[in-house]
Amino acid sequence: MDNFIIKGPTTLKGTVAVSSSKNATLPIMAALLLSPAPITLEYLPKLRDINTMKKLLENLGMKTEVVDEKNNHLSFDASSIKSHEATYELVKTMRASILVLGPLLARFKKASVSLPGGCAIGDRPIDLHLKGLKAMGATIEIEAGYVHASVAEEGLIGTEIALDFPSVGATENIMMAAVLARGKTVIDNAAREPEIQDLACFLREMGATISGEGTSTIEIEGMSIEKMRSFSYRPIPDRIEAMTLIIAALMTKSDVIVENIRSDHMSSFFQLLKEMKAKFDVDEEKRIAHLYKSNDLHSVKVDTAPYPGFPTDAQAQLMSLLTQVKGASVVTENIFENRFMHVSELKRMNADITLKGSAAFVMGDTKLQGAPVMCTDLRASAALVLAALVAEGETTVERIYHLDRGYEQLEKKLSALGANIKRVREV
Ligand code: UD1
Repeated sequence: MDNFIIKGPTTLKGTVAVSSSKNATLPIMAALLLSPAPITLEYLPKLRDINTMKKLLENLGMKTEVVDEKNNHLSFDASSIKSHEATYELVKTMRASILVLGPLLARFKKASVSLPGGCAIGDRPIDLHLKGLKAMGATIEIEAGYVHASVAEEGLIGTEIALDFPSVGATENIMMAAVLARGKTVIDNAAREPEIQDLACFLREMGATISGEGTSTIEIEGMSIEKMRSFSYRPIPDRIEAMTLIIAALMTKSDVIVENIRSDHMSSFFQLLKEMKAKFDVDEEKRIAHLYKSNDLHSVKVDTAPYPGFPTDAQAQLMSLLTQVKGASVVTENIFENRFMHVSELKRMNADITLKGSAAFVMGDTKLQGAPVMCTDLRASAALVLAALVAEGETTVERIYHLDRGYEQLEKKLSALGANIKRVREV
């Protein structure tokens, strides 16, 4: 198991580039199952979750080939899929595996996917995914830890589906299934995240007719599989990685340029930085954010919410920053229960945070101290790395396999900016 050893406090300087979005790439990879035409994905992020999805697809019979090793362009050929079962071994390591359910069912009329189960950030059910597919005519049975879905030979039928909550995964699963359904599917109360918009763009390249992505109502016209096209696609930049790097610059009071960002996907984040009196410029055309040394950041009250609200995936990282600003902040987590696992670890580093239900009260101006800490989930890990950059002395961040799920070479990116961070293998 790898650990990070980080020595602080640090000041950063230079330019850092954001990788492609993990959460946009995963559904796009699942959508590859819909088409027998070969498709190339460009600039794939080198991440554990992406490898897991690749393995899962290969287990189903997907042929993959490296087209450009340096830039990680991969071609995929789903013309001879031989299995419709996503097994527990892979699904247990990545909840997003459930995204193969919709495409497999739509194309092959049957699919079995292991139930993802709970995870560190709370109970994460898939009832909305299943409700949507059922409304389209699927029969769903849950047996021995697996979801078995099937549909009559005529396939799925387009219909109107109103989600009880704008779930990102459920919206994606239904969108993908709807591409090969008969007739029109309308998803009401759909998730509006940029990753949904990217999936819609990808499906359109495939040949699908989709409108409304980015709003609460998405319409998909079913298409015939014979009309699917071959093409190359580059997923959007990772807005959560961008936010994490920007927070690293602000925390360390540094002058840093973050490249390859889509600022239009990060409006609530930049709005919050303005409230905090952070000094920065954003150049939408050049796709960069320039962070200047910000000495007097102010406390804030933040609520996580579905897009376009403040993302739950940046909540932990923001909390690390809030330990360094003037005054007391309040962070309310509205998307996931139990997404405050980083708090007890941050407290080991001397953070002053009090939890009350779904709210965290964070005292600012805290002198953090290096300590041994443990990653509990992906974003919690990032929060600990950020805290370690400003903490006095040495921090050992254990179990960084969580971090490797979603951050491409974070230690290399941070050390190129001047951080004292090393990956060590525990023997
Ligand atoms: C996706 C992201 C994850 C992010 C989350 C919220 C990917 C691979 N992951 O996860 O990083 O934190 O969006 O922005 O893109 N829910 C139900 N029933 C369902 C589905 C969801 O009750 O059938 C609940 C969940 O328990 C959770 C909330 O809805 O409380 C949000 O979940 P959802 O939007 O589905 O998140 P994911 O797609 O799992």
